[in-house]
Amino acid sequence: MTNIRFAILGTAKIARTIAPKIKSSEGAELLGIASRSEESAQQFAQEFGVPLTYSSYAAALDDPDVDAVYVPLPPSLHQEWTEKAAAAGKHVLCEKPLARNIDETERMISVCQENGVVLLDGVMWYHTARAAAIKRIVDSGQLGELRQLTSVFTFRWDTMPMENLRMHRDLGGGSLLDLGWYCVGAALWLLDELPQQVYARANWCNDVDVRMNGFLWFGDENSGERKVATFESGFDAVRRRWVEVVGAKESLVCDDFTRPWKSDRPRFWTHDGDGDSTEHVVAGKAQEECMVEAFCELVHRGQTDHAWLQLSRKTQLVCDALDRSARSGDVVEL
Ligand SMILES: NC(=O)c1ccc[n+]([C@@H]2O[C@H](COP(=O)([O-])OP(=O)(O)OC[C@H]3O[C@@H](n4cnc5c(N)ncnc54)[C@H](OP(=O)(O)O)[C@@H]3O)[C@@H](O)[C@H]2O)c1
Repeated sequence: MTNIRFAILGTAKIARTIAPKIKSSEGAELLGIASRSEESAQQFAQEFGVPLTYSSYAAALDDPDVDAVYVPLPPSLHQEWTEKAAAAGKHVLCEKPLARNIDETERMISVCQENGVVLLDGVMWYHTARAAAIKRIVDSGQLGELRQLTSVFTFRWDTMPMENLRMHRDLGGGSLLDLGWYCVGAALWLLDELPQQVYARANWCNDVDVRMNGFLWFGDENSGERKVATFESGFDAVRRRWVEVVGAKESLVCDDFTRPWKSDRPRFWTHDGDGDSTEHVVAGKAQEECMVEAFCELVHRGQTDHAWLQLSRKTQLVCDALDRSARSGDVVEL
């Protein structure tokens, strides 16, 4: 199979992590880096050994040798550049959150599908061997009937300057879209349902949520089977990234689901009700490579509609509802 040749749009901080991994992924090749500044593109190209530079994002889309673009731009620019890339026939690996709201997301999905190109969001952990092992255990019934999922993603806000995109609502900032995206996505994926109701409260700064606590309720409250997911996202607390899935018989805990603390030892635990726990270590490729290779596989299969994209759409739908709830103080029905 031929390599998928990537161009990166923007010399973002996260692009510095992804660029070497595009190069080391099987079936992928890093062809070019585009920036609003020729100088930034040159510097990036030199540091990461990228053959071509483009002094605008549009120039990368004009290059017939580019098969796919990686879009690590602020969320406010995801729709515009995904649509332009799709119109130019380029497949799109777009950073999370896919967009600022469900209208932008729906539009991105339909434009990509109309142009026959693949769209995938930049959540890496879904594509790892460890995530597959977690999902297998949750789906197997080993935990018993599922009751609750709790997840947390925080880091210290005082390391983040006000000019950072995360502190600006118009750019798509806020802890919900930046970090809660992973928590909501984990709940929807692992519980495999859409919630009927959500509720959230937030601490605000510059009109963005710098901390959010949310509730998601799945199913009828009178059925005796209603599941609950809760999450915490924040820019103001020590770095944490854990998830717990709770069943009637056992629970599963992963203390670093979005990125393993030790890359050579990705782990999680299952606990029974008698104090016995089992540690599961599931080593595999780096999660960036897992994502890039999953994307390339979708491209080779020509699969423009796929489960990950539907999960992104649902994640955006639920994040919109959580934002509405946090701003209004009301429980929001989906
Ligand atoms: N998957 C992950 O693990 C992960 C981790 C971190 C971030 N992210 C996501 O990646 C995206 C970028 O985050 P980041 O923190 O890496 O961003 P960043 O360092 O602020 O970079 C964003 C890039 O976008 C370009 N840009 C174009 N217009 C801009 C504008 N008006 N303001 C700011 N930048 C502009 C700039 O590139 P040029 O100047 O070169 O054109 C800039 O370097 C976000 O969606 C974020 O949520 C994902």
